[in-house]
Amino acid sequence: MPKILAQCKKIECDRGANLRKTLLENGIDLHNGKSKLINCRGIGSCGTCAVQIEGEVSPVNWRDKTRRSLPPHSPTKDLRLACQTRVLGDVRVTKFEGFWGHGSQIVWKPKAENGENGENGEK
Ligand code: FES
Repeated sequence: MPKILAQCKKIECDRGANLRKTLLENGIDLHNGKSKLINCRGIGSCGTCAVQIEGEVSPVNWRDKTRRSLPPHSPTKDLRLACQTRVLGDVRVTKFEGFWGHGSQIVWKPKAENGENGENGEK
């Protein structure tokens, strides 16, 4: 089973699981601030579920590519829409600041083996 590392959690999921759904079901704060309330619920139109992913996931689909080509996102930034992403292997997920998760400061990242707590990258 693939493992997702996000915030302070290690989550096991089925291969092909939807990343947004899996993170939310496991209590991960995927959406920043008011985007917790105001988001498209996973249809790929709002862009607020953007995260950085390391690991094996599905190829970028047209919804993800289209939404991230529009401001404040940038098609050149290394982000994906969690709602349009399927988990295919072990992944590490990092969330950035901003309503759309498009900022440069890390809000949370995976807990590291060296004791980092997964929040803001601080020990
Ligand atoms: S939840 Fe709206 S684009 Fe993913």
